[in-house]
Amino acid sequence: MTVLRITLTGGFLGLVALAPLAAYAATNGPAVVTFEKDVLPILQKNCQECHRPGEVAPMSLLTYADARPWAKAIKVAVATEKMPPWFADPRYGHFTNNRTLSQSDIDTLVKWADAGAPEGNPKDAPLPLKFVDGWNIKPDMVIEMPKPFHLKATGTIDYQYILVKGNFPEDVWVTAAEMRPGNPKVLHHGKVWVRPPGSHYMENAIPGEAYSTGMGRNLISDGNDILGKFNPGLGAQSFDIGGSAKLVPKGSDLVFELHYTAIGQETDDVSKLGLVFSKTPPKQRYFFSPGPTAHNLVIPAGDDNAEVVSEVTVGADGVQLVYAQPHMHLRGKDFELRAIYPTGETETLFRGKFDFNWQLGYEFAKPISLPRGTRLIGISHFDNSAANKFNPDPTKDIVWGPQNWDEMSNCFVGLIFPLDTNPEDVFHASGPSLLPRGKFGPTLSVLRLP
Ligand code: HEC
Repeated sequence: MTVLRITLTGGFLGLVALAPLAAYAATNGPAVVTFEKDVLPILQKNCQECHRPGEVAPMSLLTYADARPWAKAIKVAVATEKMPPWFADPRYGHFTNNRTLSQSDIDTLVKWADAGAPEGNPKDAPLPLKFVDGWNIKPDMVIEMPKPFHLKATGTIDYQYILVKGNFPEDVWVTAAEMRPGNPKVLHHGKVWVRPPGSHYMENAIPGEAYSTGMGRNLISDGNDILGKFNPGLGAQSFDIGGSAKLVPKGSDLVFELHYTAIGQETDDVSKLGLVFSKTPPKQRYFFSPGPTAHNLVIPAGDDNAEVVSEVTVGADGVQLVYAQPHMHLRGKDFELRAIYPTGETETLFRGKFDFNWQLGYEFAKPISLPRGTRLIGISHFDNSAANKFNPDPTKDIVWGPQNWDEMSNCFVGLIFPLDTNPEDVFHASGPSLLPRGKFGPTLSVLRLP
């Protein structure tokens, strides 16, 4: 498919008959393509969220001068579907944040590059997009790490956990959040957790101090919720689906979880979280759960397609799924989220390639009802062979662990449910996730099918 696109649009006519090509040209985008009139609107809509100063992409695509040197690279990136990053298999699920370019937009970008990247008339240009001071949301409150985290020049840096005093004088309902790195070069990914009063998680930590491993254990049990996340390409998160919002109970603290990468020189980072508060009383609660989780996974040495299956069962009424974000490490290849409903009916909710560098999240176009008793199954595949260029060590059997050279398999899910539901009742580990660790898997072979 990819190759075909390049062939058709890249001028290598080869054996392609002329008639279809003529039809192709007539139906796909304008005949004369210029940057200001045709290309800039596509870049604004699909690329500038990342391709502007201070964002994750390496170069800006705001203006003609910015984009001109990249014309050929843009052609290749869009024709091969490398850009914009998006991994969902189009056969399953509909997602509001789908980044796939339309075929006519791809054609326009390719034609522009092939025509020598003409500028055209600046009068034809759309107005530049306005970006709010780095934020993609308009925050009502910004919470920063109380002091900078200092990074060494080299070496591996363990996950860091920093407790930040919340001082929320009352319950707060949040409709959107965005975590932003102070230094995007060093923060690989991060999360900000809500630690409700009474939670034992990091209860003896000194606020502002950075703690490494060992702190991430009982995250899930005490009603802790992920408030905001940063991954390259993830963007801001909104929680206002169907009148829902995320609860930060009065007296909560926050925990910044930070995964840093050393960049060859010493530097500091002060990451921050922006919050938008609900202007009206919420109708439902929005909650992030780790979803089906394979703490018992084993990925055999050298296996280039190791399967791991995990499961949770819904234990409350009125639960709806609105978001899915598969999570694996450097050996992750692909992920499927499947529901087995109490009726016995099975549905693949999401399926897609996995790329550790992106860790994209997928927003369902319509909330998916998960009646009590529904089983959510996570099916992941890993490449633990030497052919995987990201594989830190193909000679080892790999088990669950927090570092990149360990593995994980879970799918963070965004849920909405009634305000009086206890988040701890929503999912119970079940099926394959309850098995003791074996020599591989657990795989689909142990899934009890209806
Ligand atoms: C979600 C953020 C994001 C979006 C949206 C995005 N990019 Fe990128 N782009 C990146 C990042 C990060 C890189 C560098 C890492 C990489 O190449 O994977 C990149 C790299 C590139 C490259 C260099 C590729 C190479 O092989 O060196 C091109 C060209 C490019 N993007 C074009 C585009 C175009 C055109 C669009 C819109 C149609 C777009 N990108 C949308 C984040 C983004």
